[in-house]
Amino acid sequence: MTDRKVFFDSLTKRIDEVLKSKKSRDDKLQTVCRLLKENVPHYNWVGFYLVDKKKQKELVLGPFEGEPTEHVRIAFGKGICGQAAKLEKTFLVQDVSKETNYLSCSGNVKSEIVVPIFKNRRIAGELDIDSHVLSPFTKEDKDFLKKIAEMTSELL
Ligand code: SME
Repeated sequence: MTDRKVFFDSLTKRIDEVLKSKKSRDDKLQTVCRLLKENVPHYNWVGFYLVDKKKQKELVLGPFEGEPTEHVRIAFGKGICGQAAKLEKTFLVQDVSKETNYLSCSGNVKSEIVVPIFKNRRIAGELDIDSHVLSPFTKEDKDFLKKIAEMTSELL
């Protein structure tokens, strides 16, 4: 097992404890963002986007940790988040300068991963991570974040 996998497994346990706690839904999601951002050096902005239940086909920003972003609402298909929502698949962009359909939040961001969160087989939200590092994400990151997305699904 790689060091990264061991580390992600221990972080998964800590996040599981948070999700089992009696905190409110937003408190739990906020704490998940904080734990991810504080413990993984290449996660520099961590947030949840939720599918707007009234205006389907639009994402609305939920709890996040990091610099405030102007992208509080994103239509399906727009940017990396909107593409991930429309296609219902994980988007891993190791170099955002090469992505044409991209919504920039800050010039410091070099890479991004967006993992959809499904509830009752339908997309209900996304976990979005921005990194200031080029090509930092490995298969371990992808597997780990998919697991965290599954664990948070019932809250959405
Ligand atoms: N870069 C995203 C927008 C959201 S921010 O990363 C917080 C995108 O292209 O969809």
